[in-house]
Amino acid sequence: MLYNKKIILGITGGIAAYKCAHLVRLLIKQGAQVKVILTPAAAEFITPQTLSVLSKSEVIVDFFDANFNWNNHVHLAEWADLMVIAPLTANTLAKMATGLCDNVLMATYLSSKSKCLVAPAMDLDMYQHPSVKHNLEILQKNGNLIIPAETGELASGLIGEGRMAEPENIVTFINDFLKRGLPLNGKTALVNAGPTYEAIDPVRFIGNRSSGKMGMAIAEALAAKGAEVILVLGPSHEKIKNPSVKIINVESSDQMYEAMLSNYTGMDIVVCSAAVADYKPANVSDKKIKKQKEGLSLELIKTKDILTELGKQKKKQCLVGFALETENLLGYAKDKLKTKNLDIIIANSAGEKGAGFTVDTNKITIIDKHNKISNFELKSKQEVADDIIAYLIDFIK
Ligand code: CTP
Repeated sequence: MLYNKKIILGITGGIAAYKCAHLVRLLIKQGAQVKVILTPAAAEFITPQTLSVLSKSEVIVDFFDANFNWNNHVHLAEWADLMVIAPLTANTLAKMATGLCDNVLMATYLSSKSKCLVAPAMDLDMYQHPSVKHNLEILQKNGNLIIPAETGELASGLIGEGRMAEPENIVTFINDFLKRGLPLNGKTALVNAGPTYEAIDPVRFIGNRSSGKMGMAIAEALAAKGAEVILVLGPSHEKIKNPSVKIINVESSDQMYEAMLSNYTGMDIVVCSAAVADYKPANVSDKKIKKQKEGLSLELIKTKDILTELGKQKKKQCLVGFALETENLLGYAKDKLKTKNLDIIIANSAGEKGAGFTVDTNKITIIDKHNKISNFELKSKQEVADDIIAYLIDFIK
C-alpha cells in the first residue's frame, strides 16, 4: 500500500529515534517516498546524514539551514500524502496539542492537511501522566491517529508501557490505515502473466511474444485497490514496480500450472492473462541437439489448460480469463467464457492496431457470465487494467 506514497517522517528527541533508520529503510523498501524532518533535539540522537542516505533525500532540521527556504514547510505539507511522527516525545505532543510552533516539524504539521500518525515514546510514569493522556486525547480529537506505545523494557530500566512501537509494527499500522475504505481491502488475488517457455533442449525453447505488461498492470491495479496480490510470472523482461505484489517466477506451462493450482484455494479473484503455450515438445533432450543433415521434426504434445482446470475447481473465486483472437472475436470469447467456466472474459483482437502482445496499449471488450458486453476504447495498458478492475469490483459487489 505504501508504493508511491509520499510520507513526511518527523523524528523528535527521544532515544527511540535511533530505530528510525530502520523505519526509513522499511518505508523505502515498500516503495514510499520519504522526507525526514528532525527536531533539533532529535539530531542529538540520530544524524541527518544517516537518514539522508537511507531516505535518498535531504533531511531538514532547522529553519535556518543554508539550503532551506523558510516557507518550504508549506510546500512539504502540500507534497505529503501522510505525516508520521515517531518517536513522539511528551514535548512535541504538548506542542501539537496546543499548536505551538517553534521548529520546522511543528510548522509543517500545522500547515498540513494530510493525516498524521504518531508513535509516542516515553518513560513509564511520563506516559501515564494525566497531562500526556489529555494531550493524546486532544490529538485524537483533532483527527490524528495514535500508534499505541508498546510494553517492555524502557530506557530507564523500568518495565512497562511507553516503548515506541517497533518499526515493523508502525509500517503495518500505516499499511492498514492506507487500506481502510479501499474496495478490495481484505481480498486476495492471484494473477498470471507473460509467456511460457517450453524446453526443446538445454539451450532452445518454444515461446511467444507476450511481454507480460497487461498482467503486471492488472496485478498493480488490484494492489492499488487494497488486494493482497500474488503474480505468477512467466519469463518476462519487464519489472513490476509495486513491491507489495508477491511474485512467483516460473518458466514452463507445467511450472505455471503448479504455481496457480497450489495458490488457488481461498483466493477471491483470479485473473489469467498469461499467454500459456498450447503445445510443448513430447521429449526434452538433455543434450544440445546437433545440427542434422536434413530438416528436423519435433513432436509436440498438448500442455495442460490452466484456466480450464481452475474453472473446474472453482468455488468462491471470481475467475477472469483473456481471449486473444484474430477472427470471430466475440464468438470465440463467449465460447471460452462458457467452456472454461469463467465469470468474466476479456476479449482482445490480435489484429487490431495498437492492441496485442508487445505494445503498451490495448483495446478490449469485457463479456461477463450474464452476457453483458462492454466495449472500451484503445488505451494504455495501465488504463485498461484500471477499467478491468473497476468492472470486476462492480461485478463482485
Ligand atoms: N490458457 C491457459 N492455459 C493454456 C492455454 C490458455 O490457462 N494452456 C488461458 C489463457 O491464460 C487465457 C485463456 O486461457 O486466459 C484463453 O487463452 P487463448 O490463448 O486465447 O485460448 P486457448 O484456450 O489457448 O485457445 P485457442 O488458442 O485455440 O484460441
